[in-house]
Amino acid sequence: MKPLIVANWKMNPQSLAEAKRLFNSVKNGLKNIKNTEVVICPPFVYLPVLKIESKSPSFTISFGGQSCFWEEKGAFTGEVSPTMLKDLGCDYVILGHSERRKYLKETDEMINKKIKAVLSLGLKPILCIANLTKLKKSLRGIKDKVIIAYEPVFAIGTGKPCTIEKAKKMRNLIKCPVVLYGGSVNSQNAADYIKMAGFQGLLVGGASLDSEEFIKLAKNVAHI
Ligand code: PGA
Repeated sequence: MKPLIVANWKMNPQSLAEAKRLFNSVKNGLKNIKNTEVVICPPFVYLPVLKIESKSPSFTISFGGQSCFWEEKGAFTGEVSPTMLKDLGCDYVILGHSERRKYLKETDEMINKKIKAVLSLGLKPILCIANLTKLKKSLRGIKDKVIIAYEPVFAIGTGKPCTIEKAKKMRNLIKCPVVLYGGSVNSQNAADYIKMAGFQGLLVGGASLDSEEFIKLAKNVAHI
């Protein structure tokens, strides 16, 4: 498979105009890239506009949500359903990110329900886990293929990436076909996680907000 590079913009940038600028410079910079799939996960509110901006004959950027609820519709104030994300053209949904576990108290049980809802609509869940216990609990009763993102908490947003050796050990312990590495990925270390640690792709936070850095990162991965 092509390496999968997932950009998690988190709660950035602060205006639609900036989101469009960032998206368009990434899109133009990646025009000639081959052998890599790039997924952008912007805040929900930017999705419809960026989807329209994405029409480009040479390189397809896929979209993902950063979370979703487990029900399709109803009285769930503030939530967004997987059906809505699908309708807006998303193919992927990030689930169980450590920031949601920490600030919104998402549990493995909630994440398990979300994964099932996302799978039932044919969307691809990207399950974030920091250890094997979370992996096991979040996937309870799920037989379908789920993309896993191994994100050690100490490496997220700290500029202190996991060593290749430790990441490789974890990769070997996770018996799923598609596993991404996330946590302080940048253009310098990106390719190593794929080439040396055996990951199938990357989940990129901070570095995805700097178009030049993100383009460099994607190019380095494409040239593996
Ligand atoms: P980071 O974030 O690349 O800024 O460390 C990764 C993530 O939280 O998915």
